[in-house]
Amino acid sequence: SPWRATVLTLFPEMFPGPLGVSLAGRALASGLWEIEARDIRASATDRHRSVDDTPAGGGPGMVLRADVLAAAIDAAGIAPERPRLLMSPRGRPLTQARVAELAQGPGPLIVCGRFEGIDQRVIDGRGLEEVSIGDYVLSGGEIAALALIDACVRLLPGVMGKEASGTEESFSDGLLEYPQYTRPQLFEGAPIPEILTSGDHAKVASWRRAQSEALTAARRPDLWAQIPPKPPNRAGRQK
Ligand code: ADE
Repeated sequence: SPWRATVLTLFPEMFPGPLGVSLAGRALASGLWEIEARDIRASATDRHRSVDDTPAGGGPGMVLRADVLAAAIDAAGIAPERPRLLMSPRGRPLTQARVAELAQGPGPLIVCGRFEGIDQRVIDGRGLEEVSIGDYVLSGGEIAALALIDACVRLLPGVMGKEASGTEESFSDGLLEYPQYTRPQLFEGAPIPEILTSGDHAKVASWRRAQSEALTAARRPDLWAQIPPKPPNRAGRQK
């Protein structure tokens, strides 16, 4: 059966959203993956279908109730081998390596948080793995879930044509992508760098490598620190 994302949310109408068009949307229509958005509110039990309540100990906002969310998770009938994720700004940062693992498996359950948070007992009791897509706060986990699913779907077999699939080399070799150019040769007085039109493939490759390294060192010292230093060349100095 195809890779599937099961999403638990208070806003199921947000799915597939942007994943219904373009690359992901075409793959969805051709059955290469599936998305199932389930309404957490369908598991509410009281007369007012309430899903949240005030935080124990006081403070602002509302907390998603453990009983309602646990019932929603249990009703989804998730096979034990599927990862159970909770989108949250306090989660472990999502990486391309984790995306690749998720894309290789059967596909995750993704719980989308809302309000000030969700009851800790359901995180612990249902073994939810908290995942963040970056150090900023969204108003809910839905947009984060869409980003995670998009990153997975483009890695599924048959989703991307042969052409672009190697573009992962950028992140998987730990460096940022080098700059790209195409026609026209001259744009607002700026030419395409001469090396790229020289036809010398070895020179093109080393220029691109140098550009990637310079960008990574300047913008992402955290990534650059993980790149092993180059051995000195025979003359004892770098080219
Ligand atoms: N929910 C709110 N902000 C988020 C973030 N940065 N990552 C994942 N889920 C979130």
